[in-house]
Amino acid sequence: MLNRNRCNFRGCFFLKLRTPDIPEIAERWRGAPVGESDADADAGHCPPRLTEVTIMLRLPVLRKALTGASQSAKDILGAKNNVRTTATAASNLVEVFVDGKPVMVEPGTTVLQACEKVGIQIPRFCYHDRLSVAGNCRMCLVEIEKAPKPVAACAMPVMKGWNILTNSEKSKKAREGVMEFLLANHPLDCPICDQGGECDLQDQSMMFGSDRSRFTEGKRAVEDKNIGPLVKTIMTRCIHCTRCIRFASEVAGVDDLGTTGRGNEMQVGTYIEKMFMSEVSGNIIDLCPVGALTSKPYAFTARPWETRKTESIDVMDAIGSNIVVSTRTGEVLRILPRLHEDVNEEWISDKTRFAYDGLKRQRLIVPMVRGSKGQLVFASWEEALTQIAEAGVQDKGVAAIAGGMADAEALVALKDMINRLNSDALCTEEIFPMAGAGTDLRSNYLLNTKISGVEEADVLLLVGTNPRYEAPLFNVRVRKSWLHNDLQVALVGANVDLSYSYNHLGDSPQVLQEIASGKHPFSQVLNKARKPMVVVGSSILQRRDGAAIHAAVSTIAQNARAGSEVGDNWRVLNVLQRVAGQVAALDLGYKAGVDYIRKNPPKVLFLLGADSGCITREHLPKDCFIVYQGHHGDVGAPMADVVLPGAAYTEKKATYVNTEGRAQQTRVAVTAPGMAREDWQIIRALSEVAGVTLPYDTLDEVRDRLAEISPNLICYNDVEEANFFKQANELAKLVNQQVLSEPLVPPQLTIKDFYMTDSISRASQTMAKCIKAVTEGSSAVDEPSIC
Ligand code: SF4
Ligand code: FES
Repeated sequence: MLNRNRCNFRGCFFLKLRTPDIPEIAERWRGAPVGESDADADAGHCPPRLTEVTIMLRLPVLRKALTGASQSAKDILGAKNNVRTTATAASNLVEVFVDGKPVMVEPGTTVLQACEKVGIQIPRFCYHDRLSVAGNCRMCLVEIEKAPKPVAACAMPVMKGWNILTNSEKSKKAREGVMEFLLANHPLDCPICDQGGECDLQDQSMMFGSDRSRFTEGKRAVEDKNIGPLVKTIMTRCIHCTRCIRFASEVAGVDDLGTTGRGNEMQVGTYIEKMFMSEVSGNIIDLCPVGALTSKPYAFTARPWETRKTESIDVMDAIGSNIVVSTRTGEVLRILPRLHEDVNEEWISDKTRFAYDGLKRQRLIVPMVRGSKGQLVFASWEEALTQIAEAGVQDKGVAAIAGGMADAEALVALKDMINRLNSDALCTEEIFPMAGAGTDLRSNYLLNTKISGVEEADVLLLVGTNPRYEAPLFNVRVRKSWLHNDLQVALVGANVDLSYSYNHLGDSPQVLQEIASGKHPFSQVLNKARKPMVVVGSSILQRRDGAAIHAAVSTIAQNARAGSEVGDNWRVLNVLQRVAGQVAALDLGYKAGVDYIRKNPPKVLFLLGADSGCITREHLPKDCFIVYQGHHGDVGAPMADVVLPGAAYTEKKATYVNTEGRAQQTRVAVTAPGMAREDWQIIRALSEVAGVTLPYDTLDEVRDRLAEISPNLICYNDVEEANFFKQANELAKLVNQQVLSEPLVPPQLTIKDFYMTDSISRASQTMAKCIKAVTEGSSAVDEPSIC
């Protein structure tokens, strides 16, 4: 099965045209033999010697192949070896005209991009900014003055002096012709199509479609495919733009989708019926310009104009993807990505997109207290709060554990209340080694290079992490850099499928020590790197030898910095956090891990959404009074004496700090169910009943308090850069701990470990179906009825 439905070299050609800084390659194409069809002649040329294998190669490899293997990659790419930052001198700009308006563009800019520069949108179906150019829908045809026929704007580089006529009679006629052919086979089922109202084909047909057909032949029909419980396919609607295929092979790194057959027989699918097994598969729903790929859980639920959209932040991992929450009548109907170039670009993971049904199940909606028979019974807020106050919070030892989804406002309120109760036993469920500089220096626990920074790196060492499932959008960036910027990746840890190739250095912690001491050959690679990056997974730091691992990684990073002579503003050491609330908790001074509480068992324990099971009744004295506050009846609530229902991330305005240290806020999309309230408000009310009233009554006042402790927490969308790497490393060297011989194995190894990791996704039926589908096959999961 091919991954392109047209000439594969075309794919490569346009792929390379997007990197205009490789003029020698562009030159070769221009001189290459002309393709057979008119379409080929429009778009470029097609040297027959290149086969479809070529498109699967990484760009730098391809570049090398075309420019001669004898040249080193560095020679080819210029001294700086950075294909992203080529500066074009102003004198090199080319002047073209768009509908008579002059515009200066860089050589290699396509006609479509030049038009965009003057604010003119060319209609398109197959072209997408973040994918290679396929040039196969022809919807973007435009007239070039004095050219004999229209050109495909997305695939044609501009030439000096061209006058592009975007609105001429010829351009319009060309688009109408393309639309007529597309509609010849597209079903007229808009009233029952889930894409209705947000369909590119529907929109364009209003402009270029005809109200009658000249075709008398029957329409082509294609069998639907079952590619899993997330994406619904109605393949008769497919217009063969290949966006989904390109996304799968270029962004997701999963070559599951492709085309079979030619001409009228062509079909997009997985060839053998199987699940599209990717952690970012839902993005093909957004990419599909028609209703061929739609959301299965959202099928027949709502039309876009019926829903209210709220811009928010995801909390399923520590990336902090920007999202839009669509709601209707107080119910979350779907979650879509929102553009943020520095965080998630325009993609989100499947857990972010589809776990929202977990917000409607297993919810805590009424306060509960443990009754005389030992069972939790419903109570009023007054009863629940009074019972906690009567448990003696004022005079007994209190402690608190914050879970991975706790927001900064709740964390600061809880901290203030516990402090006023004369305790500083504030812990997070997530463990982080406290030896050395521990969590005193922010640079020790942040992804200092930032998510987008990986695109500038040239060598990346991953330690004990599987970013593909711990932080899928970070992994997508790594893959992007690997594919386009020649990023060299190495991994110390379990041998996992990261969707790109890497140098596996072994899974023993001893390898880290060898690299740190300079004995391992990889030390040289790091030393020679232009911008090295070392990323350690937070999960692996939870081991008993976490401090020794962190110390080794810190030394590797410090040595790489010294060896590569990288400037002060390039960060080498990075920690990839797994949960959304951890960075804010550490910024606020929480202790990482519950060891302190195990050693000093409290009389009253407060669990703020602590659902990972890090502490159980067995770890605590028999008479310990446990209060659980959170949104789901998951692991923490059943062991509590009092349960207080809190709001989930879609129901509150709250601050989360992602793994880079970027503060972002969620917004209220729906009201919290039943008697649930925002977490900081519950703690504020409890503080009053307990006699230690907190000095804030509004969200703004809580945020003022946040700013007092850590100003970065309210600098939204800013990343406050951390520093003191050298000092952190000096302190790390003092750590008196040996690495163990146990291999470095992160907890999420395969895709089935990805779907259910927190209280919301564990309550999601969709996520449960995904696990069933990946273990038993997509046919094991019930299909919703299809009209
Ligand atoms: S399924 Fe959608 S995205 Fe994929 S080729 Fe068809 S129309 Fe394009
Ligand atoms: S051919 Fe240009 S957008 Fe499809």
